[in-house]
Amino acid sequence: MPELADTLDLPSGLRLPNRIAKAAMSEALGDADNSPDGRIVTLYRRWAQGGYGLLVTGNIMVDRAHLGEPGNIVIEDDRALAQLTEWTKAAHDGGAAIFAQLNHPGRQSNLFAIGHQPVAPSAVPLALPGAVTPRELTPGEIENIIERFANAALVCETAGFDGVQLHAAHGYLITQFLSPLSNLRTDEWGGDPEKRMRFLIEVVRRVRSRVSPGFAVSVKLNSADFQRGGFSEDDSRGVVSALARESVDLIEVSGGNYESPAMSGTAAESTRAREAYFLEYARSVRSEAGSVPIAVTGGFRSRTAMQEALAAGDCDLVGIARPTVTTTNAAAVLLDGQADALETHEIKVGMRRFLGRFADLKSIDGVLNLSWNADQLHRLARGLEPDLQRGPLKTAVAMVRRNGRVSLKPKRGLA
Ligand SMILES: Cc1cc2nc3c(=O)[nH]c(=O)nc-3n(C[C@H](O)[C@H](O)[C@H](O)COP(=O)(O)O)c2cc1C
Repeated sequence: MPELADTLDLPSGLRLPNRIAKAAMSEALGDADNSPDGRIVTLYRRWAQGGYGLLVTGNIMVDRAHLGEPGNIVIEDDRALAQLTEWTKAAHDGGAAIFAQLNHPGRQSNLFAIGHQPVAPSAVPLALPGAVTPRELTPGEIENIIERFANAALVCETAGFDGVQLHAAHGYLITQFLSPLSNLRTDEWGGDPEKRMRFLIEVVRRVRSRVSPGFAVSVKLNSADFQRGGFSEDDSRGVVSALARESVDLIEVSGGNYESPAMSGTAAESTRAREAYFLEYARSVRSEAGSVPIAVTGGFRSRTAMQEALAAGDCDLVGIARPTVTTTNAAAVLLDGQADALETHEIKVGMRRFLGRFADLKSIDGVLNLSWNADQLHRLARGLEPDLQRGPLKTAVAMVRRNGRVSLKPKRGLA
């Protein structure tokens, strides 16, 4: 039976030193040119000492005209090769493998950061207050984005990353193609499940054809989007079986999106009691995945739950995100027996009775907690310790300041 401390061999030949991965968390630590700088190196040096078998970077955009957040790192060409190489060296010096998570936000572009209408498979806005209706992508633009993923992957390989992870979760462009709610196309990119998954499969194929056989290509995939009429677990199982026919090294299971944020634990109480939110789905997809290893991320906190998931064969790798913000050496803590479980820190907005009359407090708390974690990553990147006393007000001000500053800047180079 596999143990957390055991190595994991991926199909392309990469050997991960153990079964605990730091999952992707958007760092938004790009400089004025959306390139990485010394801050990301400082942050990853810290995580690299944390005992993880794999570090997955926060999402890196493949097009600077389409950012999920101000400050996203972008890879369009090799202009930042030196900094990217320093980043991978920081991970390798600590003994961890490192994957770059590649992403296009589609309709989840941040308007403050891009200053123009977002694009998407179809002109369907997010079902969130203030969402802008995106413009439908032309077939030529779709081809251009596929090519961008492949170019970015090649730059990543040159910079020393061990692999890439294609972000096909949480409502970003690839999931917008997968979901029948956001993909209303009637051409070869939409319609039945086969056509809706075509964009993802074409991205996987193009990336694979551009990088060496020993370079890992992985996918973070939603188990479902948890929306009526949306991308279902059956749809997702269909995608896993299609991915198993491609040369894919790892499928990381997550779920949800910003309309229905299952990835951060809004699932039913019974699911939360078992810690990992998407474990049952992972178990159900084993046969479709064949020999492709499966990772599960979302909710894992205790060594026992992680060990049981591996022992039961439900997954091969455990992903953890939020606990690694305040316990940067979370994997070492569990593997060395310094603690039996990891802690996460949560904040809640104040004046609940008053604010509750106008707004959905759960959503506000969700956004604040994302921001709280992002603020802590920025502290770590400056060589500081996390600030556990940081409250909702400071967090909210920092969030508005970050978005506001960028919104006042001229939108250089944007279409
Ligand atoms: C601040 C923050 C940023 C995140 N950014 C990303 C991201 O860039 N890509 C991604 O796939 N998931 C992202 N996530 C989701 C995590 O990878 C993970 O799926 C989620 O937090 C659940 O895992 P956990 O319970 O271990 O935190 C982010 C989560 C947080 C808290």
